[in-house]
Amino acid sequence: MTQIEEMQEEVQGTPLVPIDKIVSLSKRRGFVYPNSEIYGGVAGFYDFGPLGVELRNNIRRFWWWSMVQMHDNVVGIEGANITHPRVWEASGHVENFVDILVDCKKCKRRFRIDHLDPKNVEQNKCPACGGEFTEPRRFNLLMETYLGVVEGDRMKTYLRGEACQNIYLDYDNVVKSSRVQIPFGICQIGKAYRNEVTPGNFLFRQREFEQWDLQFFVHPSEMDKWFDYWKEYRFKWYQTIINHKDRLRFHEHGKDELAHYAKKAYDIEYRTILGWQEWEGIHWRQDWDLSRHSQYSGQDLSYTDLNTKERYIPWIVETSGGVDRTFLNLLLDAYEEQPDPMGKGNDRTVLHLHPWLAPVKCAVLPLQKNKEELVGVAKDIHKNLQRFMVTQYDDIQNIGRRYRRQDEIGTPYCVTIDFQTLDDQTVTLRERDSMEQIRIPIAELTMYLLDRVTWK
Ligand code: GAP
Repeated sequence: MTQIEEMQEEVQGTPLVPIDKIVSLSKRRGFVYPNSEIYGGVAGFYDFGPLGVELRNNIRRFWWWSMVQMHDNVVGIEGANITHPRVWEASGHVENFVDILVDCKKCKRRFRIDHLDPKNVEQNKCPACGGEFTEPRRFNLLMETYLGVVEGDRMKTYLRGEACQNIYLDYDNVVKSSRVQIPFGICQIGKAYRNEVTPGNFLFRQREFEQWDLQFFVHPSEMDKWFDYWKEYRFKWYQTIINHKDRLRFHEHGKDELAHYAKKAYDIEYRTILGWQEWEGIHWRQDWDLSRHSQYSGQDLSYTDLNTKERYIPWIVETSGGVDRTFLNLLLDAYEEQPDPMGKGNDRTVLHLHPWLAPVKCAVLPLQKNKEELVGVAKDIHKNLQRFMVTQYDDIQNIGRRYRRQDEIGTPYCVTIDFQTLDDQTVTLRERDSMEQIRIPIAELTMYLLDRVTWK
């Protein structure tokens, strides 16, 4: 048995989901499409379809709500994807943002040294064919671009390699234009670009992806306290949105794993068919960023405490995760194929997405599409619910098939309008995971659903 087959077998009785299943569902149901597919695609880039964009928006909004809206001492910004090129010298990325690669002289496969088993590196032996490696070479991951149109006058700069740099650039403006005082945080969600040498595993490693960052500015004496606070807060946040809580853990970085800006770091890791992998990084950035930007820009970015008048460079706790990795991990966490217990072929695929995040919250289904009185009531209910949440109206095929279609995209509730509705103004409400059905008055439906599909 291969390692992957073993992993599929276990994890407390629930098999780990192969990525292919998610790729196929994503394309079939309009979550994710390969970018430029009609031209053969381009590695490391994806587009999001109608359901994908709803899921993505919900993920982003939930993060923003819990990080910015629910914290009095955290504010948000949205920075540009391109900055002055000196930013990337100051940040250390021009010098240090590199992957070290080796090629196999025999089979020509290329590997990142840090992704190889140390035994293979030591023995200079390709894991695929046993061939010898070339000398290691350094590749910078920053994506270059040029500003201006006149040849010779064009300025080379970079698409941002990590979104958080804008936060350091805007830090002083935020302090001066809002009433924040240390300790406080600045959040941002935004795209980042990396010339990944080995993009792959669907959304896991892309060349254009989206990050969410909190940069929390503290007095050095309080660094320990705030590092622990955010580390625990972020772990609990991820626990809230997954079903398989046992697949989440911390991994502390060893000295050889630390990024150039970090003195200490923990990854929040999630276990999938790819093994334990980073989902979010909690980084002790100390005064690296503000000191370097002060030095390179010539502008003093130190902070004066209003009470004590002490002047110092704030230290930074960073929590940095990926919208795309969250998207992928949530689908892998939620996906289940359930065989029909009666063995009659009514198998179903279900996405057990948290109702807060599900792209469609409710489907409205008239029992029969040729009965005008049912269709009329169903359309009225749909129109009303649409004002509050994403709702689909569906009258194609029998009710069982319609339930299956909604299960497969993770819709937590289906409302069926039947002949009893016409007598007593109640509808059948079916819950996705348990498949339980209750009757509920139409007048109570909106509040009942809102209570379950929105966070509070
Ligand atoms: N500012 C710190 C920073 O960028 P990172 O660990 O390189 O740290 C943070 O990235 C998060 O961004 C990762 O935990 C991951 O979720 C996401 N991420 C990084 N590289 C990615 C890629 N190539 N494709 C998709 N997501 C990526």
